[in-house]
Amino acid sequence: MRGRTPRRAPRHTTGRVSRRWKAIAATALGAALVVSGCGGTDDGGDDASQVEVFSWWTGPGEADGLAAMKAEFEKKNPGTKFINAAIAGGSGTQAQAVLASRLQNRKPPDSFQGHAGAELLDYIKAGQIERLDSFFDQNGLRPAYPQQLLQQISYKGHLYSVPVNIHRSNMLWYNPKILDDAGIAGPPKTIAEFITALKAVKARTGKVPLSLGAQWTADHLLENVLLGSLGTDAYNALWKPGADWSSPAVRKALTDFAEIMKYTTAEAASTDWQGASKAVVDGKAAFNIMGDWAYGYFTGSAPNGLGKKVDTDFKYAAAPGTDGTYMWLSDSFTLPKGAPHRAGAIAWLKVAGSREGQDLFNPKKGSIPARTDGNKALYTGYLQYALGEWTKPGIKLAGSFWHGVNAGKKQHTDIDTAVGLFLQNKDVAKLQAALVEAAKNSGQ
Ligand code: GAL
Repeated sequence: MRGRTPRRAPRHTTGRVSRRWKAIAATALGAALVVSGCGGTDDGGDDASQVEVFSWWTGPGEADGLAAMKAEFEKKNPGTKFINAAIAGGSGTQAQAVLASRLQNRKPPDSFQGHAGAELLDYIKAGQIERLDSFFDQNGLRPAYPQQLLQQISYKGHLYSVPVNIHRSNMLWYNPKILDDAGIAGPPKTIAEFITALKAVKARTGKVPLSLGAQWTADHLLENVLLGSLGTDAYNALWKPGADWSSPAVRKALTDFAEIMKYTTAEAASTDWQGASKAVVDGKAAFNIMGDWAYGYFTGSAPNGLGKKVDTDFKYAAAPGTDGTYMWLSDSFTLPKGAPHRAGAIAWLKVAGSREGQDLFNPKKGSIPARTDGNKALYTGYLQYALGEWTKPGIKLAGSFWHGVNAGKKQHTDIDTAVGLFLQNKDVAKLQAALVEAAKNSGQ
């Protein structure tokens, strides 16, 4: 596997981020970078006494993956103390706020988790992270990654982060027994079939049709319903400059979202994604739409993981209406400007970018390696399917907006606010109007 020809870049990309990167006026951004001192090189700095690694991986599966990479790091760097600065809160809801204030106050960790795509661009524009071109060259990393992914971590031809994985957002996890009890033959393939199935679960089983957790899981559901209802091309078009969020097609998708929301758990807002996903394998809920980090949680060994078996305790399918499309996101690690233990950070990035590091991390995390040369034998069950889909000729790509690929921080927050209001007022017209505004104000 090692050294094989890098995977051809998937043909269908959102195109949005790379285009946007190219399109943003050089003057405005250049000025910002000069003022903030960004654009520095990635040499110099020799404090390797420790490394503080910032993420939001505290739960089963994700924390286990991080622990596996930490062990590899410690083996390779016995003199460097690893400080795990993870902050709980699915999809970084808490961590990102803490990180923003640390960066603002120039107290950065040595490396932090950031999503490839628009989210990373925000850090670049704010002059908060360093270029990693020579790091990539010195470690032979350019050929190790798909071209399309390199574009998503680049600005003006410079690389800015080290991707460690590829996650899939558009996954439906379901309890086969509850589907049987409800007389549902198989996983719903369209949004219309999904709504019919939710109705059947409610009418015939007394179980929760669709489990939901903290508010961000409704945002996650929204991106899946938009993709499933609009189709891939129209979904991808929503994130391009001047996108039309006021169309009847978007209204229809939001109406579907409102209908689907009627079958979710009202009391679930207090739990994070783990509680919502667990409800499926515990036989309390029929369906959950969640990224494949749920797989790491389900199958990880006890006491941390749930020790469940795919096909027996749970099954999976692409979220309704999205088969043939990989709604992707990628966790990547950065080198913040002013990292106090810069050499420690570089040593960490080496592990994060290595084949060994990624193959230790991803099977536990429930993701596939960002590198193209991972050891396929390690990816079994769902992960074998995921690798197959990711590399399948003709697979379409869509970027997850909630997990940083398509939406920058402003639009991300504005959409979250709109969804929060919708959860209160259930008003589709107001939701659409707020999403139109969010797109207008996104800076696209
Ligand atoms: C995503 C992140 C994943 C996973 C998930 C749930 O944003 O990319 O790695 O942590 O949130 O917390």
